[in-house]
Amino acid sequence: MDLNENDTWSAAQYSKFEKERNRPVMDLLEHIPATDVKNAVDIGCGPGNSTELLQAKYPDAVVSGIDSSADMVAAAKKRMPNNSFELADITQWRAEGTYDVIFANAALQWVPDHATLFPNLIGKLNNGGSLAVQMPDNFEEPTHRLMRAIASEDRWEGKLISASKRVAREGAEWYYENLRNKVNSLDIWRTIYFHPLQGGVKGIVEWLKGTGLRPYLNALDTAEQVLFIDRFEKELAKAYPVFDDGVVLLPYPRLFIVATR
Ligand SMILES: C[S@@+](CC[C@H](N)C(=O)[O-])C[C@H]1O[C@@H](n2cnc3c(N)ncnc32)[C@H](O)[C@@H]1O
Repeated sequence: MDLNENDTWSAAQYSKFEKERNRPVMDLLEHIPATDVKNAVDIGCGPGNSTELLQAKYPDAVVSGIDSSADMVAAAKKRMPNNSFELADITQWRAEGTYDVIFANAALQWVPDHATLFPNLIGKLNNGGSLAVQMPDNFEEPTHRLMRAIASEDRWEGKLISASKRVAREGAEWYYENLRNKVNSLDIWRTIYFHPLQGGVKGIVEWLKGTGLRPYLNALDTAEQVLFIDRFEKELAKAYPVFDDGVVLLPYPRLFIVATR
């Protein structure tokens, strides 16, 4: 059972694009300054792909993970049977001690109230420890603008209002302003990845079914989901050209923050 029943994640769907989703994990790991890392936790660990790379970077550290989705925790345990994974919501999580690295890749955009969350997480760091965060910064990309525009159509009778409001992420300036006095160093950057996806705009839909489309699809019945995706594909086709090899290039901006105590 997921902690939030309306928010069921599928490890299998999410893992379809693991190579692409791992790239920012590696880019984030590369910028963590701490070298003597004894313990690390991956919050919103998903199916364990990011946890595995975190453990590979710090082979001698005790690395654990938490996630609020039972399907994700089960997949992570299967993948890394020697590590500890806990079914827990990040907002309710009571860490047992303090950490050298708290790692959150593609997770905190789903967690509200960053004004409370980020200082809390920084408070769980050892001196010299880092909070390393990556969040998609794609709210204004055509994919997400189109999702919101279709969701606002009358035909859904208000069912999709909350889905359009989900993202908790602030802008880079907000994180600088709110975190700079709480840490010794603060590294913020943004990268745009260009993911070549097979299958034309259907490839984009397949990608988004693992993440950003879920709140919309979860709120609809099966027939409505078909209708929503059909509308979405038609609009996507106007915004994303298909190359003659059938590939669509999906620009994907991501915001990175490494806050070190
Ligand atoms: C996009 S996946 C990221 C998975 C993995 N960290 C990676 O780098 O690919 C987001 C994960 O965050 C989890 N998540 C979302 N909200 C959460 C919360 N409030 N508490 C714990 N986990 C949460 C989801 O269950 C999902 O597994």
